[in-house]
Amino acid sequence: MADLTDFIQQVKRANDIVDVIGSHLELRHSGANFMARCPFHGEKTPSFNVNRNLQIYKCFGCGESGDVIKFVEKYESCTFMEALEILAKRANLKMPETVGERKDKEFNERKKKKDVYLQICRDTAIFYYKCYYGPSGAKARAYIEQRGFDADTVKKFGIGYSPDNDSLVKFLQSKKYDLEDCVKCGVIQNGKYGYTDALYGRLIIPIFNMQGQVIAFGGRGLDQRTIERGKYKNTSETPLFVKNQNLFAINIAKEQKQQTALNNLVVVEGYMDVIAMYQAGFKSAVASMGTSLTENQAKWLSRLTDTVYICYDGDAAGQKATVRGLDILDRAGLEVRVMTVPEKLDPDEYIKKYGKEAFEQLITEALPLPDYKLKLLDASFDIASPDQATRNNALPKYVQGALVMLKALDDVRQARYITAVSLKTGYSEDYFRRKLSEETVDEPLPELTVTELSPEDKAKYFVAACLLRCESYATIEEKPICNSAFLSDLYDYLLTCKERDEAPTTDMLYTVCPNGTPEQYGQILDLDFSKQRLEKNERYFKECKRIITVEKLKRKREELMAKIKNNPADSSLLTELSELSKKITDIK
Ligand code: UTP
Ligand code: MN
Repeated sequence: MADLTDFIQQVKRANDIVDVIGSHLELRHSGANFMARCPFHGEKTPSFNVNRNLQIYKCFGCGESGDVIKFVEKYESCTFMEALEILAKRANLKMPETVGERKDKEFNERKKKKDVYLQICRDTAIFYYKCYYGPSGAKARAYIEQRGFDADTVKKFGIGYSPDNDSLVKFLQSKKYDLEDCVKCGVIQNGKYGYTDALYGRLIIPIFNMQGQVIAFGGRGLDQRTIERGKYKNTSETPLFVKNQNLFAINIAKEQKQQTALNNLVVVEGYMDVIAMYQAGFKSAVASMGTSLTENQAKWLSRLTDTVYICYDGDAAGQKATVRGLDILDRAGLEVRVMTVPEKLDPDEYIKKYGKEAFEQLITEALPLPDYKLKLLDASFDIASPDQATRNNALPKYVQGALVMLKALDDVRQARYITAVSLKTGYSEDYFRRKLSEETVDEPLPELTVTELSPEDKAKYFVAACLLRCESYATIEEKPICNSAFLSDLYDYLLTCKERDEAPTTDMLYTVCPNGTPEQYGQILDLDFSKQRLEKNERYFKECKRIITVEKLKRKREELMAKIKNNPADSSLLTELSELSKKITDIK
């Protein structure tokens, strides 16, 4: 761990936060700081502040704050380790093999292999792309034209064409790739005709990962003979790609998020739907590629947005597997809204037929997941039928379905939907509540209320902030009582710095306390350390240290009293107690 922290520090020193953020956003000088429009929430006037001295950023609009690594993590929607690697590369630093997960040798081997596969996929994509524009690509170009896609769209998605069985194989051979590696990443296959292009004769749609690297391909058949073997053929499961774990066009959605905060992200089924939507101006659509959604996909989506619109073809939308997928998104904390496209059209067909404004309208009419489930129940069980027998038969089934829907909800939404369902069915709210509690174990509610900080905690935040700033008067001798991981980790860091005789830095806050809440970071960052405040701060610092010491002594006294209760005969304990009590009154 010490190794990792040192390396992190090295990477940070080599990557000035103003330079890094400045390469992505337009930064303007504002006094000692820099301002920009916040990339993490939509805004017109800049409230995103970058502080070169402290090497941190903070948005006064949305409250987001962090150091240079956290910026890359959020901006590239990647993990901490990936962000560290990006910054290490930027500064020409080599990730030490012993850092974090890189400890394990096998991991390194796998990573090396993956790099080869990525290179193969990249070269393959370029090959297909060139073929599309070459003489053999006429058929593919005609098809694209007939579907109404323009040159910009083709370029954006890197659409290509595979002309035949063996051109790709020859090309990869000329690039000196081991053909077995090419088989492993799925671009060629080894069968009874030897090595052949896995997607030959098809229009090629490259699939990219979040970092914009090609990891797989989808191939659409263009003639009847090919389509008979599957309208689409996709790269099979490889170390880079598993169909139901990835999302088509996630790279483009991420790019959109970098330009403007995403206000909606639409999940559709098909490649062509994403492409058609992009061309119509809906640039944040991704495709699940015809399978139901998984936890991994939910994770990618939640890195980009809070609200997901689902737009599935008519017959797929109501299927059990689909609804299960939507529950997965809901459980991942995403707000799920389901769109309904009339006439069993897919988004591509709908936009062609009715235009983009009409499609926009479908987005605004999307139903929240629970309402959508009720709509499915309505369609299955006719509880409003004029025929009493039908009604009587449908009602219990409807109620059962509603209970399943209600059970998936958190308490707040559950209360709201119980009312709605009760009105609709005529069953009392109590009935639903009773039914729901019958089969669920009572779990204590998590504490949600924001409590005012105690004077002790306030003091601890203030002392830590002064130490981080290396204020001249700030010293520390021992760790205070910390009742949050945030404070505990922060003080461990401060004391380690003291031990090593190193100056702490504010930006390390995000390394040693990576899971802090905006409020916690705010307690440290939102203090005024201007020259005018110096004396006041110094006085308050002394006061805070006194508060912290008293708390600690009192805790000791409590422990001592407990001991005395167990050993009432031990007189040395009593002496200790009276000394301790005197100390407390003195200091107070
Ligand atoms: P669709 O048949 O709805 O695809 O299947 P589409 O994108 O609308 O295609 P066009 O408009 O007919 O060209 C949805 C998705 O399911 C996957 C693909 O990812 C496709 O985009 N699929 C479909 C396959 O993987 N294999 C198939 O044979 C069919
Ligand atoms: Mn289609």
